Amino acid sequence: MAQLVIVSNRVAIPEKNTKPRAGGLEVAVNGALKHKSGIWFGWSGKVTTRTKIATQKVVHDKITYITLDLSKEDHQEYYNGFANRVLWPILHYRVDLAEFSRRDLSGYLRVNDHFARELHDVLGPEDLVWVHDYHLMPLAKALRERGHKNRIGFFLHIPCPPPEMLTALPHHERLIPSLCEYDLVGFQTGDDAFNFSRYLTRECGLHSHDFNFTVAERTIRVDVFPVGIETAAFAHLAHRSERLPFVRHVLESLAGRALIIGVDRLDYSKGIRHRLLAFERFLQTQPDWRGKVTYLQIAPKSRTEIPEYVDLERGIGAAAGRINGAYGEADWTPIRYVNRAYSRATLAGLYRGARAGLVTPLRDGMNLVAKEYVAAQNPDDPGVLVLSRFAGAARECEAALLVNPYDPDSVAAAIGQALSMPLTERRERHEATFRVLVHNDIQYWADRFLSALQREPTTLSRLEQMPLVGTQ
Ligand code: ADP
Ligand code: F6P
Repeated sequence: MAQLVIVSNRVAIPEKNTKPRAGGLEVAVNGALKHKSGIWFGWSGKVTTRTKIATQKVVHDKITYITLDLSKEDHQEYYNGFANRVLWPILHYRVDLAEFSRRDLSGYLRVNDHFARELHDVLGPEDLVWVHDYHLMPLAKALRERGHKNRIGFFLHIPCPPPEMLTALPHHERLIPSLCEYDLVGFQTGDDAFNFSRYLTRECGLHSHDFNFTVAERTIRVDVFPVGIETAAFAHLAHRSERLPFVRHVLESLAGRALIIGVDRLDYSKGIRHRLLAFERFLQTQPDWRGKVTYLQIAPKSRTEIPEYVDLERGIGAAAGRINGAYGEADWTPIRYVNRAYSRATLAGLYRGARAGLVTPLRDGMNLVAKEYVAAQNPDDPGVLVLSRFAGAARECEAALLVNPYDPDSVAAAIGQALSMPLTERRERHEATFRVLVHNDIQYWADRFLSALQREPTTLSRLEQMPLVGTQ
């Protein structure tokens, strides 16, 4: 029987006593698979020194999790190297941070080939294959070379920059066109899909008919699938989590001060340092708020073996310390900065207790935190989302306070506006966004993608049957 096979670098393996981990892909795919069956294939998250690496299999509910460890060399070259020091910065418009080496590129291709080799034993001829994110761009090519004719889809969770920037990727002509081996290539926003299409036209001489590109005998469909969250379930969780002892303890410790929350993996794309400086600007320009507000920044460490992340951690710690030193009082610390991951219930409760959510990435594919913050609010007395216009989520969250994260004055003004916004306006803004997020939830994302992947491109109209809400 044909089955769904999901492939991604990270896999949310259902193990007992696992610590919470930050990362949008795991949260999204996990949510999407709640009511589905199939296989989820990827990296175990472990690095091994063994030379013979076997896959591990765990069956839980209706999902079979198949994972493999990476050798030290593979982990260094594929994950720390090409994926996270070349593709990640360039796709986030940070060409200045890219550190390319041929060795890392060959490690990246080798691991993709390794994934294809292992999948070869798993895939049936009718299986539907859904590959996720920038770690696995050449996977379809590696599978096709082994003779697989399955329908294979790819979804990019992170941004796709314009061709002027994509071409700064060394050997882009080897990598980006290999996405044409997929039947469907999905992006978070219209801009991302448009940028990719422009690359295919400019660099590969391909022309599209209504975002269908014909290459040799095959047709590749390019489309937009903004990733969602489990909106209704997360709203319920937040409601219940208000009563968690830890959440109550944190909120009581504020001694009546308003809470502002930021929750991000410690990543330069998230704009945490810019945000801290904007908060400082807020304290400078709106001094009446001093002593009346606490900004909690939760930022679990991420990719800690990569030098740019080590520098970032140092810089953010120093900025938070400096601002606290300059503005704090013996009985008030303006910024609480913690490098911890929390359970989903704790996060949901903290979001709900915050009068403002600061989500100000410099560039982000979607940003699920923005959506979670909105879903967690009490509809009768909601907090206000301050959101970067450079997050994919800004398309669906138009009723948030949209800001330019590079402009500290505009972010500082938005913080003040959020904290003093009248209840009626808060309710209106929250209701407008929540409605969109309930419609475009995670099930909807997965169903739209999979139904588009299953259909032949010729029968695929512009997905009128499953319209998106709030993305125009
Ligand atoms: P990214 O995928 O780049 O990390 P997203 O905002 O899209 O960014 O997704 C991050 C996911 O990780 C969200 O679901 C969020 O709740 C979760 N997360 C972020 N920070 C933490 C944390 N400190 N503890 C637990 N989960 C976190
Ligand atoms: O969404 C972007 C992403 O790279 C995901 O693929 C991943 O789940 C998340 O960020 C966390 O990064 P990492 O897997 O490198 O810890």
